[in-house]
Amino acid sequence: MDKKKISKIGVLTSGGDSPGMNAAIRAVVRTGNYYGLEVFGIVRGYSGMLDNDIRRLHNRDVANIIQRGGTFLKTARCKEFYEPEGRAIAYENLKRHGIDGLVIIGGDGSFKGAQKFSAEYDIPCIGLPGTIDKDIAGSDVTIGFDTAVNTAVEAIDKIRDTMDAHDRLFIVEVMGRDAGYIALHSGIATGAENILIPETETDIEALITSLTEKERRKKLVNLVVVAEGDKFGGAEEIAKIIRQRIPTADTRVCILGHIQRGGSPTCSDRLIASHMGYYAVESLLVGRNNVMVGVVNNKMHYTPLGKAVKEKQKIGQEWMKIVKILAS
Ligand code: F6P
Repeated sequence: MDKKKISKIGVLTSGGDSPGMNAAIRAVVRTGNYYGLEVFGIVRGYSGMLDNDIRRLHNRDVANIIQRGGTFLKTARCKEFYEPEGRAIAYENLKRHGIDGLVIIGGDGSFKGAQKFSAEYDIPCIGLPGTIDKDIAGSDVTIGFDTAVNTAVEAIDKIRDTMDAHDRLFIVEVMGRDAGYIALHSGIATGAENILIPETETDIEALITSLTEKERRKKLVNLVVVAEGDKFGGAEEIAKIIRQRIPTADTRVCILGHIQRGGSPTCSDRLIASHMGYYAVESLLVGRNNVMVGVVNNKMHYTPLGKAVKEKQKIGQEWMKIVKILAS
């Protein structure tokens, strides 16, 4: 580890927001100030680095935000930062403030940028996994996933009330980009009859057979939870086929969308964000660089940013067997 003395650090949130990002910023700011560092907030992710939208943050600036969704530093997806010219401007702006360490709270796109930046310049970068998708390797948890999945569960429970009253078949689409974690967790927790995720090939014939069989034995209330990234298609696609093949089923679609990204973070998300925020600053102080702080088996764990992005988390196939057994 390269032990360069750090005195000024920057913190930013980048990519899609996730509940708990504010709690993570707060932890970084207060831990940094505790250790006598100057902490700077970078507004709108990497865009703020390019526009020099950087401001000093004191402990009072992060008061009363731990319970808020979104991110008070705002966030963006910044294309210019993927170009060497963009990163050069960002570096000059950071140097202008004397910033010599960075904490990036975001998902895989944000880490790809950080990885390039830390390879080119002498500013160490520490990543914190802030994403509702849980699509990052090297951590059992990501900041925001627990809140998002609980939001999905609450919404699906409500859908169940009305679908049960009308004996309907519902296809609910949840977020997750290319990952099926939100679908798997929210589907199991709401007793979904079928869960379709990108990690497992969707067998449309098997789905039709299972729903037809349920229709035959007058099990008319059926819930299908589909991940937006499922390779077969989203909820509308699936519903179209079901309507053609099982016209007797009273089929409806609900796409939950961005409500999954908002809202007050759960206790679990606030805790992991606080914990990771603290360890991000500790990491910079002991000379770590180009790693993501994660939690594996309840212990802090450090993964090179490149590995975190490339490997993704694996979904155990046993879960799909459990879904089938429990839905019978
Ligand atoms: O990565 C978080 C996420 O909410 C994904 O689940 C989703 O695919 C995407 O961001 C939506 O992005 P946007 O808010 O830009 O539409």
